[in-house]
Amino acid sequence: MASNSKHDLYDAAKADRLGFWAAQANQLSWHKPFTKTLDWSNPPFAKWFEDGQINASYNCLDRHVLEGRGDKTAILFEGEPGDTKTYSYSQLLAETKKAANALLDLGVRSGDRVAIYMPMIPETVIAILAVARIGAVHSVVFGGFSADSLRSRINDAQAKLVITADGGFRKGKAHALKEAVDQALLDNSCPSIEHVLVVQRTKTDVAMSAKDVWWHDALAKASPEHEAEGFDSEHPLFILYTSGTTGKPKGILHTTGGYLTGASYSHKVVFDLQRDTDIYWCTADVGWITGHSYVVYGPLANGATQVIYEGTPDSPNFERWWEIIAKYKVSIFYTAPTAIRTFMKIGRAVVDGHDLTSLRVLGSVGEPINPEAWHWYHDVVGGSRCEIVDTWWQTETGSIMISPIPHAFKTKSGSAQRPIPGITVGIVDENGVPVKKTADGSEAGYLTIDEPWPSMLRGVWGDPDRYVETYWSRFKGKYFAGDGARFDGDGDIWLLGRIDDVIKVSGHRLSTAEIESALVEHHWVAEAAVVGAKDEITEQAVVAFVILRQDELGDAPNEEEIGKVLRSWVTEKIGAIARPRQIMVVSELPKTRSGKIMRRLLKDVAEGRPVGDTTTLADSSVMTAINDKLHDGAND
Ligand code: WT7
Repeated sequence: MASNSKHDLYDAAKADRLGFWAAQANQLSWHKPFTKTLDWSNPPFAKWFEDGQINASYNCLDRHVLEGRGDKTAILFEGEPGDTKTYSYSQLLAETKKAANALLDLGVRSGDRVAIYMPMIPETVIAILAVARIGAVHSVVFGGFSADSLRSRINDAQAKLVITADGGFRKGKAHALKEAVDQALLDNSCPSIEHVLVVQRTKTDVAMSAKDVWWHDALAKASPEHEAEGFDSEHPLFILYTSGTTGKPKGILHTTGGYLTGASYSHKVVFDLQRDTDIYWCTADVGWITGHSYVVYGPLANGATQVIYEGTPDSPNFERWWEIIAKYKVSIFYTAPTAIRTFMKIGRAVVDGHDLTSLRVLGSVGEPINPEAWHWYHDVVGGSRCEIVDTWWQTETGSIMISPIPHAFKTKSGSAQRPIPGITVGIVDENGVPVKKTADGSEAGYLTIDEPWPSMLRGVWGDPDRYVETYWSRFKGKYFAGDGARFDGDGDIWLLGRIDDVIKVSGHRLSTAEIESALVEHHWVAEAAVVGAKDEITEQAVVAFVILRQDELGDAPNEEEIGKVLRSWVTEKIGAIARPRQIMVVSELPKTRSGKIMRRLLKDVAEGRPVGDTTTLADSSVMTAINDKLHDGAND
C-alpha cells in the first residue's frame, strides 16, 4: 500500500488517480510489467494495464509459495455434515496444477468457456483457479439455479465443459447437481459441451455417460507439473450472468489484470486485512460476484486464511455460524443484511452463547442495511467493539465501490458513506445534473460512477450494444448504476435501492421481466406482472399477478392450487430464489393508455397500501377490481 495512514490513501488517490491505481496493480505479480495504466480513448471501452501480462491463478497461489508462504493455511473448509479439511497454499497449488492439466487433457484451451455448477467446497475454488490458470474463461452458475437456467447460460457462452459435483449438502440433505446438468444437456440441447467433469461430494448414485469424467480420475491421471504463463491484462477472466431489466440474464464480462487489481486492493483496504493474523470468512456462495471477488480472487491474491462453509446458517440449527466463528477464531466476517435480520427475528440467544471476541471487522453487502439491523450486527455480533463496513457494489463493478474503511472515520448505521480511494461517484437528477448538496443533505437522485475503474465490466457477453445502452447511455460519460441515492448533510451517501425493474430478494438479484416470462411460459397463464414487495427478512419478496387463460384451465383447480403449481413452476424454470411468495389471480392488469403495466400500483396492493394515483390508467376500474380481491391473501 502506498501509505500507512488511511487518510493518506484518500489523498494519494485524489492527487494522482491513475498513479494510485498503477501502484495498486503493482502489488500483484506481473509476468510482464505494464507501462500504460489506462486507455480510455474509445469510451466506454476501457483498457487497463494493457501491455502487461499476468496470470490470476499464479497470483493467488504460486506467488505465495515462492515467497515462502506455502505452509500458510489458505482454506479452512467446514462441510455441512461436520467434515473438515484444511488446505495450505502449497496444497491448493498442487491440486490446481493437476486440475489445470486435467482441463488441458480434456481439450480445454485458452479462451474456451467452462461452466462451473458446484456446491461450496474447496474443489470449486480449485476448479475456478485451474480454468483461470490456462487462460480459459469460467462462467460459474449458482447451484440453486434450475437446469433451464443452467442450459441457457451454457448456450449463451457456448461453454465446452461443465464442472459439477454429484451434489452438495444443504439443510441436512444431499442436493443433486449432476442430475440437473444431465437435464440441462438432455437431447443434445447444449451442443457445445464436450465433457462433464464430476466431483464426488455426496456419494449419491449418479448416471455417468460417455462424456462424463470423474474429477478424481482425471486428476489422478494428470501431470502434477504446470507452469502458469502470463496472459494479456485484458484477457477475459470470467463471465457471470446477472439479471437486468429484460427477461434474459446478461453475461457480465471481467478481464484479468484490472479485475484482480480491484478485488485484491479492495479486499485489503476495506477489511483492513492483516495477512498473517486474520481469519477471514465471507458467507457468500461462489455462484455470485461476492464469492468471486471475496472468496476466491481477493483473499487468495492477498494470501489470507479463510473459512469456507458448505451449508446454510440453520443446519443443523441456528447456532452453526456462531460455532464456526468461535471454532476458527474468525476476525473478519462478511455477510448480507438478510442473514442479520433472520437472526434478529430468532433472537440473540443463539449468538450470545458463543465466544465471538475474535471478531474485529464486520462487513455487509447485497442490499441496504437498515439501522436496526446495523445496530444489532454491531452490538450483538460485534460486541459493540467491531468496525462495520457497509459495502456497496455490483456484479458489474467487480469490486467494492462505496464503503467506509475501518478506523478512517466515524461510521453511520445504514450508510455506505464514501467511495473508496480511487473511485469517483456522483448523484445526479434525471437530466444528469448533479444534485445540490446542502447542510440538510440532497434530494434523492441516480447514483453514477464518474470515471473508469480497473475492475469495471468490459462488456456484456456477445452483446456490445447492450453494454453501451444499459450502462453508459443514460448520463453522458458516466456509468449508470441503476440505484437511487442521496447525500446527507455531511456529504455521506445513502443508497436507496434499485430504481429499475430489478428486485433484490435476500440480496439476490432478480428481474421482474424474467419471472414474468417464466410465468407466461405456463399454459395456464395469459399475462403476468411481477413486483418486489417489502419483506421484513428478505428485503423484497416476489409477488406475481397473473391473468389466466380460461380455455386452458380444463378441470380448473381452485386459485390456491393454481398458486401452488405456478410457484413451483417458477422454481423449476429459474430456481428456488425466484419462487413467488404470493400469486394473485386477477382478471385485468393496470395499464397506461400506451399499454405499459403500472407496477407501482401493483406494488401498493402487494404491500397493503392504499393504491396511488390511477389517473394515467387506461381503465381505472381495474385497480378497484384487484383491490377487492386482496382478501384472498397469501398462498404461502
Ligand atoms: C445491487 C447489485 C455486490 C455484491 C452483491 C450484489 C444492491 C449491493 C449494497 C449495499 C445498498 C446494495 C444495489 C446494487 N446493493 N450492495 N451495501 N447497500 N444496496 O451484487 O447482485 O450485482 O446486485 O445490489 O441495488 O445495484 P448484484
